[in-house]
Amino acid sequence: MGRAALLPLLLVAAAGRAGVSAAGGPEVRSLRGSWWLANGNGSVVLRGEVPGCVHTALHRRGLIQDPYYRFNDVTYRWISLDNWTYSRTFKTPFDDRKWQKVNLVFEGVDTVAQILINNITLGRTDNMFNRYSFDITSVIKEVNFVEVRFFSAVSYAAEQSRCHKAYSIPPACPPPVQKGECHANFIRKEQCSFSWDWGPSFPTQGIWKDVRIEAYNHYHLIYFSLTSFFEKSAQQWSLEIESIFDVVSSKPIAGLVTVNIPKLQTQQTFSVKLQPGEGSVVLLVNINKSSTVEAWWPNGHGKQTGYNMTTTFIMEAGYQIEKSSKAYFRTVELVQEPIPGSPGLSFYFRINGRPIFIKGSNWIPADSFQDRVTYDTLWLLLKSAADANMNALRVWGGGVYEQDEFYDISCIFSCN
Ligand SMILES: *[C@@H]1O[C@H](CO)[C@@H](O)[C@H](O)[C@H]1NC(C)=O
Ligand SMILES: *[C@@H]1O[C@H](CO)[C@@H](O)[C@H](O)[C@H]1NC(C)=O
Ligand SMILES: *[C@@H]1O[C@H](CO)[C@@H](O)[C@H](O)[C@H]1NC(C)=O
Ligand SMILES: *[C@@H]1O[C@H](CO)[C@@H](O)[C@H](O)[C@H]1NC(C)=O
Ligand SMILES: *[C@@H]1O[C@H](CO)[C@@H](O)[C@H](O)[C@H]1NC(C)=O
Repeated sequence: MGRAALLPLLLVAAAGRAGVSAAGGPEVRSLRGSWWLANGNGSVVLRGEVPGCVHTALHRRGLIQDPYYRFNDVTYRWISLDNWTYSRTFKTPFDDRKWQKVNLVFEGVDTVAQILINNITLGRTDNMFNRYSFDITSVIKEVNFVEVRFFSAVSYAAEQSRCHKAYSIPPACPPPVQKGECHANFIRKEQCSFSWDWGPSFPTQGIWKDVRIEAYNHYHLIYFSLTSFFEKSAQQWSLEIESIFDVVSSKPIAGLVTVNIPKLQTQQTFSVKLQPGEGSVVLLVNINKSSTVEAWWPNGHGKQTGYNMTTTFIMEAGYQIEKSSKAYFRTVELVQEPIPGSPGLSFYFRINGRPIFIKGSNWIPADSFQDRVTYDTLWLLLKSAADANMNALRVWGGGVYEQDEFYDISCIFSCN
């Protein structure tokens, strides 16, 4: 059973690490750690870890048994029908008047919630897979109270379905034998958390990824990614680098970006102008043609060479940013050609120009509770797949967009 994305290889193009040098860079205060959790009527109050979810918090405190045991999915159904609130106080670790912009950033909220700080509503969330950033520059105080008031995802999905009258969206409910919840397709949440044919129903609520305060002046790098390309006619490898910035000042900020890949004798400098507000900068770096690029190969077909790369942003205002990342080079083609004497088309992958027999697995979430999926869990599972001579994983669409560590680990196995 399945839909969605095919990830043809144990690979993505890049792995990035943030790095900010020089004075004046952003100040970050993590809000990970212990928060208060309370159910709708306040009859259950406990401490719980963030990142985390209500189920794991209750289990860690000994308030429920192992959710996986026997029919505990059914026994603990009440947890996901209730509306839980996460809250905590925190001190602002810096002089907030020093900063032009202060944001409260959630990398992942699961799922439907109202976010408040100091009793002021900042906004609402309804997509587990989005990053939410709230401007708290004018509301942050010395001591702050932050609240995330969840609304049952099960109730939300039912309500959304009720409001949608134009036509029906099947399936309304999973098969009764799954003892699951209905209308999962009305909410942007891990679909199998409402039950699947292979797994129990645990529609979690919680702050499942990092949460922090970020303060900065002038500009801030929000997102950075790279993709490699090969131009066949020119026999030219290149890298497309995308950076998304938030520019606080009312005027554009000019500067220079230098990309350096020492091993490939490639260094290129671009002049850029960041416009006020949020926007992206896309740069195309041509790899020095007198250097030999070693391609990344699937498991069993060659090495998984990656190249160290640094990208330095030197802007006329504010601080300097240096990003270190790893660049991998490979081409992927899905070949669908007529087959002589057959009515159908071929369907295979050509990697770096070579047809590759793909043998792999369908990757589903490694746990019903994402906060229990550690680096070691992923490492063990991915290493096992490579050791079993697999060379591909399809990341199943009924689960989650996997964490960066999943892709970092996938790139590094040199198992041949
Ligand atoms: C409070 O909520 C819990 C869980 O939903 C429920 O079992 C309990 O009966 C409620 N208590 C009151 C006083 O409504
Ligand atoms: C959850 O909140 C909704 C909307 O406020 C309410 O109708 C529902 O009764 C609440 N559920 C519980 C278990 O408190
Ligand atoms: C929070 O705001 C609500 C209304 O939005 C108000 O009724 C309540 O008294 C406020 N609480 C505090 C502690 O300020
Ligand atoms: C490409 O590399 C060669 C050395 O292999 C170097 O002499 C040359 O300057 C490089 N070209 C560019 C554009 O960096
Ligand atoms: C590449 O970068 C990593 C991490 O920064 C470093 O440990 C490693 O030594 C570098 N490799 C080369 C060849 O420079």
